[in-house]
Amino acid sequence: MMTATVKLVSRVRRLGCVLAFCFLALFLWGLPGARALDNGLAMTPTMGWLHWERFMCNVNCQEEPDSCVSEKLFLQIAEIMASDGWKDVGYEYLCIDDCWMAPERDSEGRLQADPKRFPGGIRRLANYVHSKGLKLGIYADVGNKTCAGFPGSFGYYDIDAKTFADWGVDLLKFDGCYCDSIKHLADGYKHMSLALNRTGRSIVYSCEWPLYMWPIFKPNYTEIREYCNHWRNFADVYDSWQSIRSILDWTTSNQESIVPVAGPGGWNDPDMLVIGNFGLSRDQQITQMALWAIMAAPLLMSNDLRHICLEAKALLQDKDVIAINQDPLGKQGYRLRKEDNFEVWERPLSNLAWAVAMVNLQEIGGPRSYTISVTSLGQGLACNPDCLITQLLPVKRKLGFYEWTSSLKTQVNPTGTVLLRLERAS
Ligand code: GAL
Repeated sequence: MMTATVKLVSRVRRLGCVLAFCFLALFLWGLPGARALDNGLAMTPTMGWLHWERFMCNVNCQEEPDSCVSEKLFLQIAEIMASDGWKDVGYEYLCIDDCWMAPERDSEGRLQADPKRFPGGIRRLANYVHSKGLKLGIYADVGNKTCAGFPGSFGYYDIDAKTFADWGVDLLKFDGCYCDSIKHLADGYKHMSLALNRTGRSIVYSCEWPLYMWPIFKPNYTEIREYCNHWRNFADVYDSWQSIRSILDWTTSNQESIVPVAGPGGWNDPDMLVIGNFGLSRDQQITQMALWAIMAAPLLMSNDLRHICLEAKALLQDKDVIAINQDPLGKQGYRLRKEDNFEVWERPLSNLAWAVAMVNLQEIGGPRSYTISVTSLGQGLACNPDCLITQLLPVKRKLGFYEWTSSLKTQVNPTGTVLLRLERAS
């Protein structure tokens, strides 16, 4: 009798826990509330390479022929993406950022590439990129000028969309500098989305609309999702831990508004992967890779693939982590809890699996251990009644079988992350 009562109480408690987790689920894990841009693209987050963080607006090809923004750089990166395994694991879009343009439009009002730095023009570059089985991305701006001062698309949306389609472009990053009002910003982003669709070419539409709205208004993500395939929310990524942390902090502070809206066809974009550059330690690179997977973020690397160390390459090409990022369920993860300078993040995956990341934010001392009861993971469902846990990062190893009542103990390096995959055992 006594044991039966205890069992009943513990069942009721369990149910209580499950209901509490379900409540959190409803709030963070609902179906994307809005229709996605109906272009059939970005059903999983876009993967590729984007020149900005690493090469910025270097137009000095005289002094720095290997690192200026030029046709040569993109031809070389295309070649490597195709031959060094990048394309094979999913990095498909080779994207040009700001500073590719000539300072003036041509006599018919069309944008043109700088003739010295892109002597073959964008169409020839696109042909080459396509011949390697890759896709080409380009950059323009909704306002009067690009952020670096090149011609903006304001007043030219239809012409520019047609030019990009004629050239064979496959993705447009549309920036928001030099736009004189919120109305022009919103109208411009919508206009370009419709203009791209009208070209009949499949062009992924990457926006910065909410980033430029935040200082004035809270963005309407339902609307943004109807027009954009991904959207930047927050400041530019830099090659530093401080930058990665600030992006993660912004994301957690706003997760209630941004997580539910992400899904196939439309994603939050926390900006480029800077793995393989100079500013992040090995552990910090692991944190970026793991958290960008949890956040269902576009994986756009900005690094020099011609000179990248084997460790960074292996991390960026880690198929298990990429599989989390690209999971077909398409739900963005969120921070579950923060305590004692640890953060626990989780993301629901297809087939009732879950990804879990434990981040050690403490920047003093050595590896610290963190113990979590598996009942609290995956809204009470990940290990109910049991699960198999595999650690994916920092190194792959099977942790084995866990029952609903078990605890999981991990050791996490300062500013590092342990990334796990939890799968149903029975
Ligand atoms: C910024 C944008 C960056 C980069 C830069 C180019 O506004 O957020 O990602 O595109 O402009 O000038």
